[in-house]
Amino acid sequence: MPNNELRDRWNYLTTNAVNFGGWVPEYVSDQLNNYFDKNIDGKNIDLCCGFYPHVKGSIGVDISPLALKGVEIIGEREGREYLETIEYNFNDIENGSKLPFADSEFDCATMIAGWNYIKSIESLIEEVDRIVVPSGHFYVAQHLNGAAWKEDSFREDSAAKIVNQFRRLGYSMKVERASDVTNVVVVNLEKNQNDLEPSVVWVGKNKNILKQL
Ligand SMILES: C[S@@+](CC[C@H](N)C(=O)[O-])C[C@H]1O[C@@H](n2cnc3c(N)ncnc32)[C@H](O)[C@@H]1O
Repeated sequence: MPNNELRDRWNYLTTNAVNFGGWVPEYVSDQLNNYFDKNIDGKNIDLCCGFYPHVKGSIGVDISPLALKGVEIIGEREGREYLETIEYNFNDIENGSKLPFADSEFDCATMIAGWNYIKSIESLIEEVDRIVVPSGHFYVAQHLNGAAWKEDSFREDSAAKIVNQFRRLGYSMKVERASDVTNVVVVNLEKNQNDLEPSVVWVGKNKNILKQL
């Protein structure tokens, strides 16, 4: 899909999501805020940031200018300001485009409910690996099936696909719960290390999900 068409589509979907009160119910948003407030330290880039500022103090990147406007307005209203917002289509990376940031510019990266929309996830991982310090972590959050978004079949196995993809590329990781309906794969960007020990595991309604991974 050409850039403009994809941008228009996400502007449209963003408008719908705003009208329906958000991509996730408010209690999930609060739990996500809580998880990222506790875990993110230093300069963070929030990929596919959408219109709600879950990772305050980040630089937010998204294809939808409408979503980015939302982050600015809601961030200010709720005391969760982002440092900066940048419009960018991550699908452009596979055509040779680079993220507009220097090597090791960030301490960590986050991506919440964005993974399944990116065409070439491996080129995005390469870029994240370049712009985040080698000792940094990449937090990839994906919602579980059973939430409000059943039509999206990717969510059936939530974090498992993400874990497998990172393992194939030589990364180690841990999986934590950030909300009742959200797994987070925390990837150690230093390759070929031992897996990380889960430090904060959210025990919500779906207690058994970690056993299934
Ligand atoms: C389901 S929303 C999640 C938003 C936010 N992370 C949250 O959890 O509230 C997915 C976001 O990914 C963005 N997105 C989708 N495809 C993209 C792409 N190719 N490049 C950049 N952003 C993209 C959309 O504009 C949308 O804001």
